Amino acid sequence: MKIIILAGGSGTRLWPLSRDRYPKQFIKLQDKKESLFQESFKRSLLLADGKDIYVVTNKKYKFLVMGEINELDYEYDENNILVESEAKGTLPAIYAGISEIQKNGDDTVVVFPSDHIIINNRAFVDLIKNSEIQTDDSLITFGIKPDGPNTGYGYISPGVVKGNGYTVTSFKEKPTREKATQYIEKGYYWNAGIFMFNSKLFVEEAKKYVPEIYQAFQFSKDLNESFSKIKTNISIDYGIMEKSKKVVVVPADCGWNDLGSFDSFYNVFDKDENNNATRKENILIDSVNNLVLSNNGKIVAAVGVNDLIIIDNRDALLVCKKNQSQKVKDVVEILKKRK
Ligand code: GDD
Ligand code: MG
Repeated sequence: MKIIILAGGSGTRLWPLSRDRYPKQFIKLQDKKESLFQESFKRSLLLADGKDIYVVTNKKYKFLVMGEINELDYEYDENNILVESEAKGTLPAIYAGISEIQKNGDDTVVVFPSDHIIINNRAFVDLIKNSEIQTDDSLITFGIKPDGPNTGYGYISPGVVKGNGYTVTSFKEKPTREKATQYIEKGYYWNAGIFMFNSKLFVEEAKKYVPEIYQAFQFSKDLNESFSKIKTNISIDYGIMEKSKKVVVVPADCGWNDLGSFDSFYNVFDKDENNNATRKENILIDSVNNLVLSNNGKIVAAVGVNDLIIIDNRDALLVCKKNQSQKVKDVVEILKKRK
């Protein structure tokens, strides 16, 4: 079994905490000593030896990745860190890992994002091991029971039983809120963003559904050349999962949370008696249901406000209504245009 850890995203929905130079996967969260990337790496070590774990990241983050692995006191071969000159989305990033793996023949591959938490790692690792038997003819995804119509996820409709999961009758990436609400009523799962398949099957499906990506990797001398041929960003979800007939969803109940937005941050943080998720040094009076964080030692005080997200960073302050934090990525888009 081989592992590909994706660690090249820039986590734009968590601005101003997550920055282009220092994205979410490397941030050390409240009262935790390890970053999400480090947790993902340790989780991978429960399944495979370091030599079989590949990290795919952007050249901007290579040294962050190396530093974080060193901090875990783990001897890791730098050649297993695959570097993209430019981010092209999760599909090319996964393909980069697959190309490297295939140099030594086909194998089962597990793809881990590095931007989520899993509370019950043991249960999850067992689920992965029990799913391996299906990977020759199935692209396995892990399904999470939704707790609301979050528009940042993929939605999966389970069909008939197959192995320890279900065939997938439809996979819809990032629907509108209205559609997401309908999907939840119909019993869809969220896509956890963790995938498992045989490398051979991945390449076959890529050839069928994203021939331009297949060609970029199959007919280039190295990763640099492959990436230079890819014109637009594409995720595995839009490129393959929405289209393939071979997707199987395995329900996973293991304390997964993708921390994809400040709303999910709020959900996993410890709350005080007024349902505020904050740090002890901050002062909240007559205020309930807020997420208040500062990352600069500054004290934040709030009076008479409810359902707000307040994130104070050294050079930027975010104030956002709860349930609207998906739109924080629009702020980042505007900032990019200003550069
Ligand atoms: N190397 C590399 N290059 N990694 C990337 C790139 C890239 O261009 N883009 C994203 N990643 C990494 C991110 O750092 C993250 O660890 C992982 O790939 C997933 O990418 P996201 O950009 O965070 O995806 P998403 O959250 O919008 O959506 C995916 O995850 C959801 C669950 O968290 C999809 O798979 C959804 O269907 C899913 O519900
Ligand atoms: Mg994500």
